[in-house]
Amino acid sequence: MIDVGPGAGEKGGQIVAAGTPKQVMRSAKSLTGQYLSGKKFIKVPLERKAGSGDFVEVFGAEENNLKKINVKFPLGKFISVTGVSGSGKSTLVNTILKRALAQKMNRNSHKPGKYKKITGYDKLEKMIAIDQSPIGRTPRSNPATYTGVFDDIRDLFAQTNEAKLRGYKKGRFSFNVKGGRCENCMVMELSRLK
Ligand SMILES: Nc1ncnc2c1ncn2[C@@H]1O[C@H](COP(=O)(O)OP(=O)(O)OP(=O)(O)O)[C@@H](O)[C@H]1O
Ligand SMILES: [Mg+2]
Repeated sequence: MIDVGPGAGEKGGQIVAAGTPKQVMRSAKSLTGQYLSGKKFIKVPLERKAGSGDFVEVFGAEENNLKKINVKFPLGKFISVTGVSGSGKSTLVNTILKRALAQKMNRNSHKPGKYKKITGYDKLEKMIAIDQSPIGRTPRSNPATYTGVFDDIRDLFAQTNEAKLRGYKKGRFSFNVKGGRCENCMVMELSRLK
């Protein structure tokens, strides 16, 4: 077992521990080891959200390796789909569920993977897919640039006395302008892209 870390992005990139799981568990530096040994743990909540009791149900899913399965997705609570790599999670969720809902509710024409029927989506208002891809055309987009609120923030920055004194116009306050952005965040942003 090789534990890479200790953190993510800038804080990672080192071999923290290597050896048998038992050896990794004994390493005080390895966060993974501490969780494996039970020294650290995530508390299970005493109460769970009951959900609404409704389901979206997919019948006869058989794209890729799926064996004509029927699956109920409970509504009104946070759920997850788990399983070993290659077992069919993405096929079920992205290729079938997501596209089927997009087709039925958002009138999207992207053809879903093979399935027979989907029910229960009348209980949903809309389908929003969130994944790790950047939300705009460039990796620098973020919720603020995407919704346009950043434009107002830049206007506000340009109106400050400090900006006026220095002659900074709105255009300076941009992720793409050296000195106009936070150079620390910029460094983080680039290292994440690598
Ligand atoms: N476009 C494709 N064409 C053919 N077979 C595919 C395609 N996509 C996935 N598969 C196969 O379907 C099976 C399920 O793959 P899927 O990607 O759904 O698994 P997964 O559970 O999401 O895995 P992971 O945890 O690695 O993301 C695998 O055998 C995979 O090789
Ligand atoms: Mg997957």
